[in-house]
Amino acid sequence: MATIIAIDGPAGSGKSSVSKEVARRLGFGYLDTGAAYRALAWAVAEGRVSRPVAEDENFDGFDYAISLNPDDFWVRSFGVDITDAIRLPRIAESVSAVASVPAVRKFMKELTRTLVAQSQLAGVVVEGRDITTVVAPDAPVRLLLTASEEIRLERRAKELSPEDLATLRKQVLERDKSDSKVVDFMKPAEGVDLVDTTNLDFEQSVQAVLSIIREQL
Ligand code: DC
Repeated sequence: MATIIAIDGPAGSGKSSVSKEVARRLGFGYLDTGAAYRALAWAVAEGRVSRPVAEDENFDGFDYAISLNPDDFWVRSFGVDITDAIRLPRIAESVSAVASVPAVRKFMKELTRTLVAQSQLAGVVVEGRDITTVVAPDAPVRLLLTASEEIRLERRAKELSPEDLATLRKQVLERDKSDSKVVDFMKPAEGVDLVDTTNLDFEQSVQAVLSIIREQL
């Protein structure tokens, strides 16, 4: 079974880019768990899957595949490459509603564990919101990446195409607020190390994470 490095954090904390680079340097796989929630929101929007409700027991009809290779990242659903489509604002706007359905969270937990188990890799850096607490509470390394609200918004603004900063602020903060009603990813759970990247650049953030991993593995 692959060694799991569990990394949680809010939007713009640097979680995705740092996790991907850490995976590269360790020769590990990289698993973006938010991509599956986004893909499900996409499949619902496309009418390929019915809107999930609390009573749903399985999502057998949801076709999903993701690359764990940090140098060749792609996401597919129903034979469609949705790597870029899942980053569209309309998906970001609808994903929290999908992610708040308990049956969806249960399904995603199993999906994530299966993807790691089947990866045949020495290790996988798994990033999301509930990896340190729900998906892999026994992982040998568990980290929460945070940054001040101001810095997180600034980083997101740089990442996205020309979007009005006020709209972006509203979107990011509202999504965090709605997501954090379901899982707490703003405070580290017991035994989880906190890495605050507010005053760290990208390389310093990568080094901070790598040094905790080296200490703990
Ligand atoms: O990390 P992201 O922005 O791609 O995540 C997309 C959505 O999925 C986000 O609004 C919260 C949800 N999510 C979650 O609830 N649990 C996870 N482990 C990962 C993502």
